[in-house]
Amino acid sequence: MHGQSRLLALLAAFMPWGPVHAGSPQPPASTVTHTQASVEWQGNGLLLEVTALRDDIVRIRIAPNSGHLPEDASWAVLPTARQAHVCATPTDDAHAVGFATRSLKISINRLTSALSITDDKGTPLLTDRGAPALLPSDRHGFTLIKTLPDDGHFFGLGDKFGPLDRLGKSYAMWNTDSYGYREGQDPLYKDIPFFIGYTHHAYYGVFVDNTWRTFFDFGHEDPSALQIKAEDGPIDYYVMAGPDAKSVEQQYAWLTGPPAMQPEWMLGFQQSRWGYPTETALRDIGAHLRADHVPTDAVWMDIDYQDRFRPFTVDPATFAHFHQMIADFAKTGIHTVAITDLHIADAPHQGYAPYDSGMAQDRFVKDASGRPYIAPVWPGPSLFPDFTQAATRAWWGQLYRHFALEDGIAGFWNDMDEPAVFDTPTKTMPLNTVHRIDEPGFVPRTASHREIHNIYGMQNHRATYEGLLALKPDARPVVMTRASYAGGQRYGVTWTGDNASTWNHLALSVPMLESLGLGGFTFSGADIGGFAGVTSPDLLTRWYEIAMFTPIARSHADKDSGPQEPWADGRMHEDIRRHFIETRYRLLPYNYTLAEEASRTGIPMMRPLFMEFPDTLIHKAPMDLASGNEFMWGAALLVAPSPAPESPAPYRVTLPPGQWYDYWTGQPVTTAQALVLKGAAGSIARAEEGDTNTAHELKVAPRLDQLPVYVRGGSIIPQQPLVQSTMQTPGGPLTLHVYPGGNCQGSVYADDGQSFDFRKQAYNRVRFRCQIDQKGGLSLTVGPTEGTFQPWWHAYAVVIHGRNAPHAQATFNGTTLPVSVADTPIGHGLMVTIPATEGSLQVNQPIPEK
Ligand code: NOJ
Repeated sequence: MHGQSRLLALLAAFMPWGPVHAGSPQPPASTVTHTQASVEWQGNGLLLEVTALRDDIVRIRIAPNSGHLPEDASWAVLPTARQAHVCATPTDDAHAVGFATRSLKISINRLTSALSITDDKGTPLLTDRGAPALLPSDRHGFTLIKTLPDDGHFFGLGDKFGPLDRLGKSYAMWNTDSYGYREGQDPLYKDIPFFIGYTHHAYYGVFVDNTWRTFFDFGHEDPSALQIKAEDGPIDYYVMAGPDAKSVEQQYAWLTGPPAMQPEWMLGFQQSRWGYPTETALRDIGAHLRADHVPTDAVWMDIDYQDRFRPFTVDPATFAHFHQMIADFAKTGIHTVAITDLHIADAPHQGYAPYDSGMAQDRFVKDASGRPYIAPVWPGPSLFPDFTQAATRAWWGQLYRHFALEDGIAGFWNDMDEPAVFDTPTKTMPLNTVHRIDEPGFVPRTASHREIHNIYGMQNHRATYEGLLALKPDARPVVMTRASYAGGQRYGVTWTGDNASTWNHLALSVPMLESLGLGGFTFSGADIGGFAGVTSPDLLTRWYEIAMFTPIARSHADKDSGPQEPWADGRMHEDIRRHFIETRYRLLPYNYTLAEEASRTGIPMMRPLFMEFPDTLIHKAPMDLASGNEFMWGAALLVAPSPAPESPAPYRVTLPPGQWYDYWTGQPVTTAQALVLKGAAGSIARAEEGDTNTAHELKVAPRLDQLPVYVRGGSIIPQQPLVQSTMQTPGGPLTLHVYPGGNCQGSVYADDGQSFDFRKQAYNRVRFRCQIDQKGGLSLTVGPTEGTFQPWWHAYAVVIHGRNAPHAQATFNGTTLPVSVADTPIGHGLMVTIPATEGSLQVNQPIPEK
């Protein structure tokens, strides 16, 4: 075959419905239009537009060449982001057209319309294998096929239940009620069509903004292809340049918004279950938590409190003093969160206000014949608010008036919002039910459930969040949703749905929460103990341990499960669980600082290791990317639960290059403890004394009361004295735990923990740095205070770990201060207390002899 014909035949094979005609030797007729920020290409039956929103973010839109692109509207991407653009340098030659920004180079092949995107170093990030395949016009949908690089890895897509690395797997995006789901079951509750790709030292992001049923295949069907398919909807996607995973997260947050900042109490321990049937039972739970000194910030009310499971009602028989109960909890520093599912009971002429006002205002989704769609959920036959209308969302928001303002309920829980429907194999509403889009930025029109399904839960979440904000503009709303779409993080919290009480669920909750964090939902949790099924004492204890290093720590269980409160299983287990809950409360200043960082930048609190160690992990010390069991809790703490937590057998923990400390003892990890070191390309060598340039590998076998946690040398971690709730003001100084090492730094952030006053400078942020001088002395620099908020502390107790010389001397801003050897809950260290002001602390203590 003639060379060019062979090439065209090959291309045609990749484009089953494609536009290239084998045998035509010349590039087909085409039009190229450059603007300052974009290139528009019309050729091969396609219209393709690439726009530089920023130097490091491009948007790609493709349509059949009918002369115009589909409506420019999005539920996920902020209008300001979609309208942004930067100047790009056009490129145009005989083979390709495109443009270059400082970070990305775009090129569209004139012959094939294939798009390739490279970074500023020339690394191909995404390369089309042929043009996008569009289905013929009487059908819908498309397939994008990209070359999967030999060294490719993929992370993200939200609540998928399996390995952290998506390589070799394929996934569907379709929000689904998935009780007791199993490993590999897909899809689950959320559709977050965003992933981070890795190739050749570069991390990049891809977000496919399509709400219809979509599919991602990372080399499953064809190991050399990354395939993205949708059954309908626009081809509209964004590529983020990275070059590291933290940058990708920031770029994604710029596009879709950072997560909504939570009040501080959401970082406390929370107790829930389906099956606290009466007010007395719930009060007993609160009293037991306090009596047993289990630090707690919230109890959750599942559907038990409602009258006939009707949202926005209270059962007067079983919760007779509802208002008083919530007030009494508040007095003990316990917030109350209430479930308010979206389905409204079909209850005409019964004085059920949500039904009456919803019907009067025509707020519900219609069936194909134009009548309100009615289907069974908890209350029996129910109606479903049409959240795609701004007016419906406003109506929904008002339903919270009494609960939020008079009863003082502190947070709300939007469950079942895939939406779940009983007694149907699809578990949801028929795809031809009709929604009416009436939404700023969209042309008003009707839309089938097929298009809306994946954003339905997100719009429910949004309606609640915005409704609460309208009712109490000064309070950070707390709303947890089960279903969502990209961008839903703007409205708050999620959880991993109906997990199960199995060891496998505990292990896989780690990569699942990491993935949700990568998808913007940093404020996520997994039901502690597992929802479905009966847990065992050891499983529950291990779950409490790990969950204390995840963003939302909520114990929750199915109504048929056994007890999963901390005291279930007796004293020994309760003591361990309490100890870990207390650890979380001591870490609150650090955790809250992480939460604020996430809500400002999009960088999640819980991070896969490659996010903190981008250069080394994949190349110099391959990690267990499949299990993702080790993770970073912020930049400073490495948490290393077992990849097989059911087994008491020892397992390996890889510590990335650098100095590490054992979090529980404060002692440096020595090379004697590190069994082996992994050198370049994963080769294994004996430890060289003092070598911190390569990764350490430890073998650990933690007892039931132990969870391996390590501190990165060079960290300064703020901690506080123990409290029983975030409502209690800690006494004494803020402790700054200093772990000497390279690039030594840390920070603390505080505000009132509940309002938006931080936007008006009412916050307190201080950055710390430390350095070791040549004589082994340590200097700690306390930076200037940002913001006007006065936190509870007036002094810092600086604890320097890995030091124990009792004769050390210290000065702060020239004043000599006493140094002691302190015994803290996390090990000994030299301690100096200094005023909480800007300045420089010098501790002239020589490095102890090894
Ligand atoms: C399903 C939720 O996933 C679960 O957490 C809740 O307990 C039940 N619905 C009952 O409301």
